[in-house]
Amino acid sequence: MTTPAAVSFAATDIDAIAGLTGRIALLIGDPEKLDLAARRINRLTKGALTRLLESDAFKKLDEGAALDLSFPGGMAADVVQVVKLPRNASGPDALAAGVAIGAGAGEKPVVIMAGSARGVRDIAQGAVLRAYDYADQRSGDRPAGAGAVTVMVSKPENCDGMADLIAARAAGVFFTRDLVNAPANVLTTTEFARQLSELSDLGVEVEVLEEADLEKLGMRTLLAVGQGSDSPSKVVVMQWKGGQQEAPFALIGKGVVFDTGGISLKPAAGMEDMTMDMGGAGVVAGVMKTLAMRKAQANVVALVGLVENMPDARATRPGDVVKSMKGDTVEVINTDAEGRMVLCDVMWYAQDRFAPTGMVDLATLTGAIIIGLGHENAGVFSNDDALCNAFLKAARAEGEGAWRMPLGKAYAKQLKSRIADVKNVGGRPAGSITAAEFLHRFVKDGTPWIHLDIAGVASTTADSTHAPKGASGWGVLSLDRMIRDMFESDKE
Ligand code: BES
Ligand code: MN
Ligand code: ZN
Repeated sequence: MTTPAAVSFAATDIDAIAGLTGRIALLIGDPEKLDLAARRINRLTKGALTRLLESDAFKKLDEGAALDLSFPGGMAADVVQVVKLPRNASGPDALAAGVAIGAGAGEKPVVIMAGSARGVRDIAQGAVLRAYDYADQRSGDRPAGAGAVTVMVSKPENCDGMADLIAARAAGVFFTRDLVNAPANVLTTTEFARQLSELSDLGVEVEVLEEADLEKLGMRTLLAVGQGSDSPSKVVVMQWKGGQQEAPFALIGKGVVFDTGGISLKPAAGMEDMTMDMGGAGVVAGVMKTLAMRKAQANVVALVGLVENMPDARATRPGDVVKSMKGDTVEVINTDAEGRMVLCDVMWYAQDRFAPTGMVDLATLTGAIIIGLGHENAGVFSNDDALCNAFLKAARAEGEGAWRMPLGKAYAKQLKSRIADVKNVGGRPAGSITAAEFLHRFVKDGTPWIHLDIAGVASTTADSTHAPKGASGWGVLSLDRMIRDMFESDKE
């Protein structure tokens, strides 16, 4: 488990600066108008700070980026990280500044001299989120975790509750990243369900449905995906009841712990990346952790379908026809289009049991969405403009890329089967949209719904907005914010 750095806010203490060990991050809004902390550092270092600020390197620096003053004379700190950020910056620039601070983090503590900067919350959040290092599979000494983050501000009374909120959100994001980074021999369906069961310590009600239960419910399309694996298929139901008596909002996640493609086997090159094919379920799990930790005043139910897609004598064949819980029969043209077969049963069950006020599903569903949007944006598909816009607004505020894609009857037609009610693939054109249209069949009339295709954003080979390369945790912050906006904004 990767534990986020502890974060706290304190009043600026100028006299402590000379003796601080570890790292000091100093925010510079206007190099002509140094604040008290900057003036003290400049004096202690005999003018090294002003020389840095007058250098071409600093002048060329982007807003939100940083330059290091290493082993400064006259100070106990190892480094003063000088961060360029206008005092009234907030949102993406403030987040970028925080990320620059977090990227330099080690095990030593960091003190951020933020003064009266407006974006302190984004700065602190960026610093904590970026200081992530997945070490669970490395041998040797365990790293002690990222050093504590102290944010010194001129008015700490304005930061009440901020540290707890940041801690809850970072814990959710880190939970998602750890799950997504974990290899498939470690994170089996059983181990995944076990880790989700631990959310009950935080007050989440957790139920694990086993294969016999799923069989009884008629979830044949989900079971068809997992039947070639030795790991048992499961559906985990998590309920957070922080609201009143109203029906819950539902989150659904694709949890394919490994996707070989099944009998329609994937090529060897890059197949190892399919350990992240449970990314949707990972995000859902992270959101539930955050909601529980911050005691969200909302009713949210999360359901994940946990399966492994393997080739085997018992595996589903191309050409097989299986019946979904809804009753629609599905012709399996390609066993590698398995995510939609898992989701359709879980989505149907969620609506059947909970009659949710709205539903968001998340899935690393198609390679085609990476061709369309790359790693910058997740694909957003929706039958409801109001819900969709609420999500897009939240995603923009969190710096998590999201781009709306179309749905439409003409796309759904590509899924017509000669022998069954529907095929599981619609050919190469618009592969992400036909996948979304497959899911659309399993959305009841009147349920506002968003499908998020996160294949391109769940895990990346380069650093993303607030994560180092590897699992990003994309979506946890946006969904947490959307839930807050939709259900809790009158309660602040
Ligand atoms: N898990 C994959 C999609 C994927 C690809 C996720 C790359 C992350 C990175 C999904 O199950 C899949 O195999 N989709 C197929 C669908 C096709 C058979 C219609 C694809 O995208 O090729
Ligand atoms: Mn697949
Ligand atoms: Zn898959």
